[in-house]
Amino acid sequence: PLPPRFRVPLPIPAVKKPARTVHGVDEYEVTQRIGSAEILPGRTTKVWGFDGTFPGPTFEARAGHELRVKVRNELPQPTSTHLHGGVTPPDSDGYPTDLVVPVGGSFDTHMKHSGDMPMTVRPQDWTLHQGTKEYRYPLGQRAATLWYHDHRMDFSAPQVWRGLAGMFVVRDDEDDALPLPKGERDVPLLICDRSFTADGSFAYPSIDPSLTMTPGVTKKYMQGVQGDVILVNGAPWPELEVAPVRYRFRILNASNARRYQLALDDGRHLVQVGSDQGLLARPRTQASIVVTPAERFDVVVDFSAYRPGSTVTLVNKLGSGATGQVMRFRIGGRASDDSHVPARLSDVETLKRSQAKVTRQFDFRLSGKGWTVNKQFFSPSTVLARPALNSVELWRFTSDFHHPVHTHLAHFQVLTRDGHSPGSTDHGWKDVVDLRPYEVVEVLVRFTGFRGRYMLHCHNLEHEDMAMMANFQVV
Ligand code: C2O
Ligand code: CU
Repeated sequence: PLPPRFRVPLPIPAVKKPARTVHGVDEYEVTQRIGSAEILPGRTTKVWGFDGTFPGPTFEARAGHELRVKVRNELPQPTSTHLHGGVTPPDSDGYPTDLVVPVGGSFDTHMKHSGDMPMTVRPQDWTLHQGTKEYRYPLGQRAATLWYHDHRMDFSAPQVWRGLAGMFVVRDDEDDALPLPKGERDVPLLICDRSFTADGSFAYPSIDPSLTMTPGVTKKYMQGVQGDVILVNGAPWPELEVAPVRYRFRILNASNARRYQLALDDGRHLVQVGSDQGLLARPRTQASIVVTPAERFDVVVDFSAYRPGSTVTLVNKLGSGATGQVMRFRIGGRASDDSHVPARLSDVETLKRSQAKVTRQFDFRLSGKGWTVNKQFFSPSTVLARPALNSVELWRFTSDFHHPVHTHLAHFQVLTRDGHSPGSTDHGWKDVVDLRPYEVVEVLVRFTGFRGRYMLHCHNLEHEDMAMMANFQVV
């Protein structure tokens, strides 16, 4: 039976504190370990969490202010931590074969999969860190809602499902100076779906639940794994008591494969102020917002029109029954509000087609035994593109299914969708685009920050584990 809806308060993940500051660089220490959580009332769920929690702690960072995170792995399996949306040097980017081996554990680089997945990783492709690794995040980028999650080769989907994900908020002076809601009225909403067994454990259809040998899920889950319980910040269908004022919500779809179309059940609009990579030029009023896995939307909701004691529900128009609902807001007593949404938010440069000197196509498709990019399964040694540092390229994505396409390092702007102007949720600087079946989406990608090997991939985590990833090398 599903848990009751709107009974538990929305949890807010703890903000991570630095262990020390050395020459202006904040150093954090985080331990990946098994923890236990009460997700379903009266049941205990074993989670794999950063600091043993799900979601992990929220990192609060400043643009241009370097931050280092020492990750210690006390889990039973290796991990690789990716700061999603970060402009990060390649050796700190959480590459799938750049593993942190459990403290006191070992990893066999000669291990052969026993499944029918094409074996694409050679023993020399692995980089192993014993027990801990320090990740360096220079954050030479604008304010944005980022997140971090596991990226272990072949096993990202089950390891994220078990809890290895959290929010990472980058702030800057431009964003701080706006009169948008702040403090307790600036709320992260990490939305994901999960399934549970009768005893409260996470249910996931791994072929090898020990996550050691055979990666992946059974054929039935080719399209990705969806759960029947919707969690926000780790709680099922929670309720948030709000004052009748404006709130800023940082929405992240941290689901493995589920897309959402979010709306308020009374038809009142959401005001979008930011996308994956920060502020839009101008606010956009949205009746609903489709959020594909890994996408972020910053929205402002004005609760001042609601009577104290009334409720309004955030619904998912792509769901049905219980998955058609996400969370509820209960409007409390009076409070003052000096926030507003200004007509101009940020100077966002619009990239032009003429700026792209190179055009490339990436085709995301089921081919042969699995999910491919340009008919190839991922291999650490195969590079599909060599863009130049500081250049802009036009990338054309084509597909046969829903594939949320994500680029590491480089951010982009959507130029066209199926030959038309971008959709209502395509605006601003992005790092994920909702590529829908048989669509052609053109994006202008800018390569800044670092040279080196990075990846683009489908962010349906089951597709990612089935090798729907590719490398590009910034030269
Ligand atoms: Cu959010 Cu390569 O991932
Ligand atoms: Cu996909």
